[in-house]
Amino acid sequence: MHALDWETMRRLLVTGGAGFIGANFVRLVAQQRPEVEITVLDKLTYAGNRANLDGVDAELVVGDVADERVVDKLVSQADTVVHFAAESHNDNSLRDPSPFLHTNIMGTFVLLEACRRHDVRLHHVSTDEVFGDLEIGADTYFTEETPYNPSSPYSATKAGSDHLVRAWVRSFGLRATISNCSNNYGPYQHIEKFIPRQITNLLLGQPAKLYGTGEQVRDWIHVDDHNEAVLAILDRGRIGETYNIGADQEDTNNRQVIEMICELMGATDDGQARFEHVADRPGHDQRYAMDANKLRRELGWSPRYTDLREGLAATIEWYRAHEEWWRAGKEEVEANYAKQGQ
Ligand code: NAD
Ligand code: DAU
Repeated sequence: MHALDWETMRRLLVTGGAGFIGANFVRLVAQQRPEVEITVLDKLTYAGNRANLDGVDAELVVGDVADERVVDKLVSQADTVVHFAAESHNDNSLRDPSPFLHTNIMGTFVLLEACRRHDVRLHHVSTDEVFGDLEIGADTYFTEETPYNPSSPYSATKAGSDHLVRAWVRSFGLRATISNCSNNYGPYQHIEKFIPRQITNLLLGQPAKLYGTGEQVRDWIHVDDHNEAVLAILDRGRIGETYNIGADQEDTNNRQVIEMICELMGATDDGQARFEHVADRPGHDQRYAMDANKLRRELGWSPRYTDLREGLAATIEWYRAHEEWWRAGKEEVEANYAKQGQ
């Protein structure tokens, strides 16, 4: 058992640390372990935002995770790397897969090579989407042994990145772990994503937008619970292992999530939630559901946010209070969706 990286960690490099989950992770580490020196490597794509790190004691290096020169230098100065950087949105990957190949595959490869050269511990953050999807209503879950079967260019490139990490562990003895997590929600999530898109539409008096019939099911987890699990893996995870992360919240379909948000925001007309049906996503994954028992059993992790309604209410309040954070980008995001009839 290799362990206690979290305890011995002093110089932490976080790729993608100006994005949604990465920035929440940096905030959590800065709060829990102020003695850790945190460096963020982020390209500040449309999804990255300097303001996500406002008030946090971390150095931001603006650069590309696929840039060998930058990555080699930063990795040589770190003892631990947590790899969040990715192109992360399925709908964008259907419009143009190319940046997904660059960042998710080439970026991970460049990072792996640098970690190998400098013998640095790596945690790779991945997704439940690598497993494909499950039948709605079935009593089935993704485990760490479920065969990979990705559906979109996004999930295919994440699956590829996971395979690279495993190969580097086995062939080169790299000290790495992987986590595959379900759908996150919480503060600082980009407004292209399902929950913040609906909240910000409703705040602007626009209807929420539901793809197709909205029967699809996601296994929602609060971003802080995801990041606490990553810390548990850094602390107590076994090198070479993969851990599923999920909070057992796959009993609400997309339509019901929208209805809950509308109800919490008072956005109803004659008792009906204020939403409209828009074009469905091609190849839309039907259901995700995670079996996170290995993480719970081996590492003693459990989620703090177990009531989706409460988590959504807090998230709605965050977006209400941070209009300056999301307002400027809203028109562009909606114009892109409108081109797809969404
Ligand atoms: P995000 O899109 O909000 O943030 C991604 C960050 O990576 C941004 O700050 C962006 O600027 C940066 N980035 C993109 N390309 C880069 C490059 N070439 N070099 C350096 N930085 C680059 O994504 P997120 O939702 O925070 O997801 C973070 C990670 O977690 C991703 O690896 C994603 O696959 C994984 N994940 C996300 C979820 C989810 O529900 N959002 C669930 C499971 C796993
Ligand atoms: O499961 C983990 C994955 O969750 C992560 O790997 C991805 O990075 C993250 O984006 C997320 O992927 P999804 O495709 O599940 O999330 P998204 O927020 O795009 O959509 C959630 C569901 O809501 C999905 O079934 C599509 C639907 N949807 C989405 C949008 C943006 C709508 O009905 N309306 C919308 O406007």
